[in-house]
Amino acid sequence: MSLRRIVVVSKDPEVQQLAQEYGQEVFGADNLADALDVVQTVNPDLMLFDHRFGPRHIHEFRNRADKNSIDVPIVVVGIDDNNTDLSTEFIQTGIYDYLKSSQDYAQLEQIINRIKITSKTSNHSEQNTSHFFAEDLAGSVSMVGCSKAILNTLKMIKLVAASRCNPILIVGETGTGKELAAKAIHTLRHPNEQFVAVNCAALTANLLESELFGHVKGSFTGADREKTGLMELAQSGTLLLDEISEMPINLQAKLLRVLQEKSFRKVGGIKNIACSATIIASSNRNLKNEVKANRFRRDLYYRLNISPITLAPLRSQERRQDIRLLAQYFLETSTICPQKCGKITSLTELAFEALERHDWPGNVRELSNVIERAILLETTDKIGLNAIYIDPTQWSEVSDGLTPGLIKDFSLAKAERELIARALQKTGWQKTRAAALLGITRATLYAKVKQYNIEKDSYIANGPVKQEQNEVSASSLSKPVAAP
Ligand SMILES: Nc1ncnc2c1ncn2[C@@H]1O[C@H](COP(=O)(O)OP(=O)(O)OP(=O)(O)O)[C@@H](O)[C@H]1O
Ligand SMILES: [Mg+2]
Repeated sequence: MSLRRIVVVSKDPEVQQLAQEYGQEVFGADNLADALDVVQTVNPDLMLFDHRFGPRHIHEFRNRADKNSIDVPIVVVGIDDNNTDLSTEFIQTGIYDYLKSSQDYAQLEQIINRIKITSKTSNHSEQNTSHFFAEDLAGSVSMVGCSKAILNTLKMIKLVAASRCNPILIVGETGTGKELAAKAIHTLRHPNEQFVAVNCAALTANLLESELFGHVKGSFTGADREKTGLMELAQSGTLLLDEISEMPINLQAKLLRVLQEKSFRKVGGIKNIACSATIIASSNRNLKNEVKANRFRRDLYYRLNISPITLAPLRSQERRQDIRLLAQYFLETSTICPQKCGKITSLTELAFEALERHDWPGNVRELSNVIERAILLETTDKIGLNAIYIDPTQWSEVSDGLTPGLIKDFSLAKAERELIARALQKTGWQKTRAAALLGITRATLYAKVKQYNIEKDSYIANGPVKQEQNEVSASSLSKPVAAP
């Protein structure tokens, strides 16, 4: 019987030993300020406090934890049962429970059981993923994001969907969510109608024309029976013309006519067929540039570009903050590895940071792929840096060289030294926080700093640590031990 992470706030070796026995990972803190830092960083399942801290200190800690929205069960070790006044005083501080001594194993096991049951129930209710979506659209539009950019896009989607705007243009780089946005508009505007999509880049001019408008029998060689086109199939639903910039120029002229006249003819046909579908065109190319280069008709561009919906690239300042939320969302909703379903709960801070540093040329699709691969590779309950593999061919030129995935050198010691130096730099050389970030104790951190001769000044003088090889995950550095 054990818990994932225990933070022990005690100098007593017996209490530390107890934590070691019941925690898969144990983190130590000497005082209340350190304890708060560590807890904030590692998000433990339980805190073991030494009774020497007294009710006043525990009360103070809980107040500070509350202010930081930290809610972790606290168990105080070493409270004499016979002293009812004292135990009541401790209970009144809001602790989860107490142990009479560091040998009170049966009681601790009961407590752990209770904690596990409570966390299972709360995890269960978290299966609902609606918290990932913008509130007022939850349920109808499954676009994850909290950034200003995505909220603006959602606002625009709502406005356009509620209007009669037709056609609608959606622009954005590859993988930014244009098709998702098109489906959102469709769901908001006519949820019970057909949604049909065609990729204009995937078909030759003739095939695309007959795919869109259909053809009559005998209209060209091989047209041995009549065909209904997608425009007709969509009826009063939505037709998505994906990658509109790739539509051959003569077909662009025909499309413009359909948009103006709201009717079309099948290839080889003479009958006008009414078109009542919402036409959405999407493009990952800058259509204005395509017009300048004479590859796209100016009149069609103006017809489409009435209230364009823009999806910002993931790397843009206005959207970067969605990276964490999207990563967590893909982790929680992935079905790639059913055996691991619900077992990997999050990503380590360093893994999140690595994701935030990447430029995501493939945008949300690339991020989703990286998380799926990480789920396959990860063996612990948190995705660490070593499971994050970013395709080096997808690196952008402006990448700072810190992103993991480029394996030049497999020296574990070198990677460990660099990771430690990075953690120290990130925390401004606050050793308790750095140790917690790395998943090791302060004692281990001190030993490693000495072993690798990492110095604050020399480190700064050498500039930022260059990540030349695959990083190791914090948890693989060494098995954490309790602080002395
Ligand atoms: N905001 C988002 N929330 C959740 N998933 C998203 C979001 N944006 C995109 N995705 C997912 O990312 C993937 C790519 O999205 P989508 O196909 O809509 O992109 P696209 O812009 O049409 O790409 P392309 O230009 O390559 O066709 C899909 O699996 C989609 O579900
Ligand atoms: Mg698309």
